[in-house]
Amino acid sequence: MNNYRNIRVTVQENIALITISRPDVLNALNSETVTELLKAVQELEHDPRAHIVIITGDGKAFVAGADITEMNSKGPEEARTYSELGHSLMRAIQNMGKAAIAAVNGYALGGGTELALACDIRIASENAQFGLPETILGIIPGWGATQRMPRLVGTAVAKELIFTGEIISARRALEIGLVNRVVPDEDLMTAAMDMARKIKHQGPIAVSHAKQVINRGMDRPLQEGCGLEIDAFVSCFNTEDQKEGLQAFIEKREPRFKGR
Ligand code: HXC
Repeated sequence: MNNYRNIRVTVQENIALITISRPDVLNALNSETVTELLKAVQELEHDPRAHIVIITGDGKAFVAGADITEMNSKGPEEARTYSELGHSLMRAIQNMGKAAIAAVNGYALGGGTELALACDIRIASENAQFGLPETILGIIPGWGATQRMPRLVGTAVAKELIFTGEIISARRALEIGLVNRVVPDEDLMTAAMDMARKIKHQGPIAVSHAKQVINRGMDRPLQEGCGLEIDAFVSCFNTEDQKEGLQAFIEKREPRFKGR
């Protein structure tokens, strides 16, 4: 694994853990950190040891946003490059053929909420706080929240969050469907690992197909989405895992998936 300056990457039990570590600035994402995250996600995509990816933050924050100090010196062209870089990261997470879980500790503001939104599942500690405060900076979310947030929680709530910049609690995030579950602070990583283990138990190709079909279907009319589902369902039948999964049920035993 690479030597990164701003993140740590470990793989244990086929579960990859990416920890963003710039605690002095509450893990604010400067270009270097976004670039490292993108590289890590691209590597994990092709790393057979990693079946699931968890992303979390070091210290008292998940991510307090894009790095405001770095953004302060940017003009429009550099702003575009910065926005596009972050979008590449979010797209890589979204399109990765493995499930991504955000384990959200403390602040997830601006780009932090956007990073969590790019993941498939969000687990929050009770002290987590979410928000899109960009408009107080005279800017808008630039790493996908204007698009992913309304798709997840609906336009009314997304507009409220973006127009007011309100910071919301983990409980409120659960209420609006932004997070999957809220757990006591000390249980966050256990809960994320438990979720990862449950997913890992399933057929990996099946999970990957399901992720792609759900994501791609969200941008299409229902009938087209259902067409994608049929195609992906059929392609499961070209895998050894499909034969193993069904056979294991019939033989009343645990399946031994090989990911092929
Ligand atoms: C750079 C940041 C930062 C950020 C915190 N810090 N957030 N530096 N970028 N996003 C730094 C602070 O300057 C401070 O540095 C140190 O981290 C600790 O932060 P404090 O403010 O002292 O902590 P606290 O009082 O606990 O307040 C926490 C906070 C506040 C509420 C999270 O830091 C805050 O409001 N941060 C900004 C949140 C935000 O607006 N995020 C959205 C950014 S825009 P020093 O040197 O003073 O110790 C964005 C756009 C994404 O994300 C799209 C881009 C294309």
